[in-house]
Amino acid sequence: MYNYSLKFIKSLPPELAHSLTIKAMKYLSFGYKKNFEHSALSQHILGLDFPNPVGLAAGFDKNAEVMQSMFSLGFGFVEIGTVTPEPQKGNIKPRIFRLKEDEAIVNSLGFNNKGAQKVKKNLLKIRNTYINNKIIGVNIGKNKSTKNAVDDYLYNIEYLGSLASYITINISSPNTEGLRDLQLRGNIDNFLKKILDKRDQIKDINKKPILIKISPDLDENQLRDIALISLANNIDGLILTNTTTERLNTLISNNKKRKGGLSGKPLFETSNTILKKMYSLTNGQIPLIGVGGISSASDCYEKIKAGASLVQLYTALTYAGPSLIYNIKNELIDLIKTDGYKNISDIIGKSV
Ligand SMILES: Cc1cc2nc3c(=O)[nH]c(=O)nc-3n(C[C@H](O)[C@H](O)[C@H](O)COP(=O)(O)O)c2cc1C
Repeated sequence: MYNYSLKFIKSLPPELAHSLTIKAMKYLSFGYKKNFEHSALSQHILGLDFPNPVGLAAGFDKNAEVMQSMFSLGFGFVEIGTVTPEPQKGNIKPRIFRLKEDEAIVNSLGFNNKGAQKVKKNLLKIRNTYINNKIIGVNIGKNKSTKNAVDDYLYNIEYLGSLASYITINISSPNTEGLRDLQLRGNIDNFLKKILDKRDQIKDINKKPILIKISPDLDENQLRDIALISLANNIDGLILTNTTTERLNTLISNNKKRKGGLSGKPLFETSNTILKKMYSLTNGQIPLIGVGGISSASDCYEKIKAGASLVQLYTALTYAGPSLIYNIKNELIDLIKTDGYKNISDIIGKSV
């Protein structure tokens, strides 16, 4: 049944395919029944008990509508968003393109989402159910029209923070003008201080981990700045990476010409390079979440060896379908055992 549905979904334009998938999951309580957890995959990081290291990356469930279905696929954690304070439509369509031959996607969505109020309602609903104890990251951003970006982040931290297991500060989407400049040396120190001050001031939120999601298109110096500033400010974690505006000349699909952020297989090596550099620059002292181009257990294994404590994926799920996470977890356990380790945490940073 899944195979037929997947074939049908893949035959539709990508944004329609996505919204139909979300509707099906929402109303049919869609799930994958062969779910399991295993002690070799569990870890205590960021003050949280992760049943396994494989998470859903931001952008799939922007409005916190299908978290339950995503957990039933076997994800160890789910990151919702990016959420902006006010609802917004995003950029003009079409704005999602499949690069089928490359197993990649280009998107220029521009933070289309239903806004913080609706997302809060959805999170409250889920926090009152049996998935209350699950790890849900809330990824926040700014509205297109907001002039002073930090105000939107501070608002969202206060408004949504108590419902988050961790909060991701997204300053790396290429589809909101000027957003990525927040990563630069002249801006990021002051920006992060304001964010952390806000978090520390609010009783229900002051223990919530704050993670910064960064771009794969930063140079050595910019990475070094972020590493030093993150260490100096005791940032809880970094997520590496968002989509890239670069286009490798190995890309085959015609849609490589589309404007926006590229995700999926061609991003794997680039994001691993950034991950390794960041692991070294921070001396392994800051938990890193590796994301970009993962489509198998060995990809997860490679990212963890490159310094990630946890991983996330999005694009591969749209190509491989719902059995992906079950298969990845099974094969990850085999890889750990074959190499003579007991737990996934034993391999963090082993190839750096
Ligand atoms: C259609 C689409 C929408 C996305 N939207 C967001 C978003 O709202 N916020 C965010 O931080 N990342 C977003 N991302 C980036 C992913 O979270 C992830 O960082 C990136 O796709 C690399 O992982 P992947 O190769 O496994 O897809 C989006 C990616 C895609 C494909």
